[in-house]
Amino acid sequence: MTVLIQGGTVVNADRTFRADVLCQDGTIAAVGEGLEVPQGATVVDAGGQYVMPGGIDPHTHMQLPFMGTVASEDFYTGTAAGLAGGTTMIIDFVIPSPQTSILSAYQQWREWAEKSVADYSFHVAITWWDDTVHADMGTLVNEYGVNSFKHFMAYKNAIMADDEILVNSFSRARELGAIVTVHAENGELVFRLQQAMIDKGVNGPEGHPLSRPPEVEGEAANRAIRIAEVLNVPLYVVHNSCRQSLEAITRARNEGQRVFGEVLAGHLLVDDSVYQHPDFEVAAAHVMSPPFRSKEHQVALWQGLQSGNLQTTATDHCCFCADQKAMGKDDFRQIPNGTGGVENRLEVLWHHGVSTGKLTMNEFVRVTSTNTAQIFNIYPRKGSIAVGSDADIVVWDPAATKTISAKTHHQNVDYNIFEGMTVTGCASHTLSQGKVVYKDGELDVERGAGRYIDRPAFASFYDALNIKAQRAEPVAVAR
Ligand code: URP
Ligand code: ZN
Ligand code: ZN
Repeated sequence: MTVLIQGGTVVNADRTFRADVLCQDGTIAAVGEGLEVPQGATVVDAGGQYVMPGGIDPHTHMQLPFMGTVASEDFYTGTAAGLAGGTTMIIDFVIPSPQTSILSAYQQWREWAEKSVADYSFHVAITWWDDTVHADMGTLVNEYGVNSFKHFMAYKNAIMADDEILVNSFSRARELGAIVTVHAENGELVFRLQQAMIDKGVNGPEGHPLSRPPEVEGEAANRAIRIAEVLNVPLYVVHNSCRQSLEAITRARNEGQRVFGEVLAGHLLVDDSVYQHPDFEVAAAHVMSPPFRSKEHQVALWQGLQSGNLQTTATDHCCFCADQKAMGKDDFRQIPNGTGGVENRLEVLWHHGVSTGKLTMNEFVRVTSTNTAQIFNIYPRKGSIAVGSDADIVVWDPAATKTISAKTHHQNVDYNIFEGMTVTGCASHTLSQGKVVYKDGELDVERGAGRYIDRPAFASFYDALNIKAQRAEPVAVAR
């Protein structure tokens, strides 16, 4: 299939320029002014619009079995919803139950994801430890294109990784040339604080943020960072929601440590007043971890994104409908944790980031696509409008306006955390593998068209770490 995107302005992470973009057989074949229209090509008129690398959401949970239920959005509906908002790739999570084979879990998630309509890849969570996990991590890196391992420092008595697991897994990742990622919340403290809330008679959703204050996130982020520092392994901290974890990352980066931070569109734009809503359904719809925070933290997160101390934006798309959230009607600890947003990330970030002057268009591309591609080692195949890159492209109409609503979104969930938000700047067309899959409000997707994307281990990060280790001066110890 041949598509010529004509008359637009290309926005990459490094520069902006007028060019047509020719897509052939799934990749970008030419980028330049005044390209001829090949015979039989479909022409997309991008006049007055921006042509950008499709968004990559590095943090989603499609059809995740979690907290006694299964996320309502599956790989088909979820990747389709992403395309409707200009996101052309997701990195989801394989989350093995403790004591079960991580390789079998990986195969299970691969099977579930076969119905995807856009490209995808997987981080694999390490939820327990023994020699088979050690061996299987090697198989995943060397044979299955997995270069990132996730650790949940919360969710005690379920998937929580304690320090022993972190140390074992981080060391193994170091040997394999993989990056480690963490959900940073101190699970022991959360467990204790949840019980304290229940003891005080606070059973409703308002107990959720009270049991997960920013300090428990800051502590865990700092602990993971220091473990990664000692073991000399690159670290990526997912869904930073507060000043405390951002400060831990910033401090480590200023010390020269290779630490990366992700922020969710939701944490930037939704504040903790939602937990005071008198309607259980509304408050419960916002129960996710870490919780939404006060406006003071939102200001800090925007500054983190602007300064480059936070490099990526994500959604943690993990949808549960009202009947599922109702599992926690009498006890907030039973409300399945998670919110959606894969469809809306680009438009809300454009509206609140680019249109307010907080981000340049190039920075927008960097934090929605390119940085993720670079950190997770799929650049320049993804994250760039360049000859040879995959033709995963969003044509962006900066003048288009819409009001976000669960009534009109494509996401398979009955609530939208951005409900009622009017945004200016939306995807007019999305191309996946060089095919127009979304055009002016209509999806044209094919079940199973999405491909699993291999992500090789990290040559460049590790070259740098090895050089640093070899050159390290002995540290003088004061006596
Ligand atoms: O509440 C959330 N974030 N649910 C999904 C699992 C996780 O912690 O990322
Ligand atoms: Zn998490
Ligand atoms: Zn998550």
